[in-house]
Amino acid sequence: MEQPGATAIAAAGSLATRTAEETRRIGRALGAAAHAGTLLALVGPLGAGKTELAKGVAEGLGVASVVNSPTFVLMNEHAGRLRFFHIDAYRLDDPEEAVAAGLFDDRQAAGVAVVEWADRLGDRLAADRLELTIQPAADGSDTRLIGWRASGAAHARLAAGVLADR
Ligand SMILES: Nc1ncnc2c1ncn2[C@@H]1O[C@H](COP(=O)(O)OP(=O)(O)OP(=O)(O)O)[C@@H](O)[C@H]1O
Ligand SMILES: [Mg+2]
Repeated sequence: MEQPGATAIAAAGSLATRTAEETRRIGRALGAAAHAGTLLALVGPLGAGKTELAKGVAEGLGVASVVNSPTFVLMNEHAGRLRFFHIDAYRLDDPEEAVAAGLFDDRQAAGVAVVEWADRLGDRLAADRLELTIQPAADGSDTRLIGWRASGAAHARLAAGVLADR
């Protein structure tokens, strides 16, 4: 139970996937359950599976266009059940650059945003988010360990519904 006076609703957990399809399926479930203002912050090294998860989110939102990492732009936008904003902060040297480049758009509050390399945005990223840290297993297999932390009531509900029992 939430204590009276508690300021934040937070929830956290972890799960593992063994294939790219399994990671994508988690994304798909998140996309299907996402709400206006869902912010998924993806953290993890090159090749971890961030884009794989983002593609699943797009599928879950019913996005029909091809979703690839926004390599040469910071953000791609796709139409779906809710508008899908796909951001890749890999090339950012400075979070200020992101702000100057218009990375945070008011319209994101009405859509769903997925940010790859979210850690590069530092505290510029909204605190109210569901953060997923994807870590390849040390044994070199296809296993990915996914840790998650939800902030805010809506993200906590999303995580509880989709991630908690995996
Ligand atoms: N369990 C798994 N989950 C996700 N991807 C997996 C898994 N096992 C193998 N893979 C493979 O790992 C690769 C992940 O690539 P992806 O582009 O999603 O990584 P990324 O984190 O977005 O990397 P980058 O930082 O370069 O954008 C894909 O080739 C995918 O097929
Ligand atoms: Mg990627």
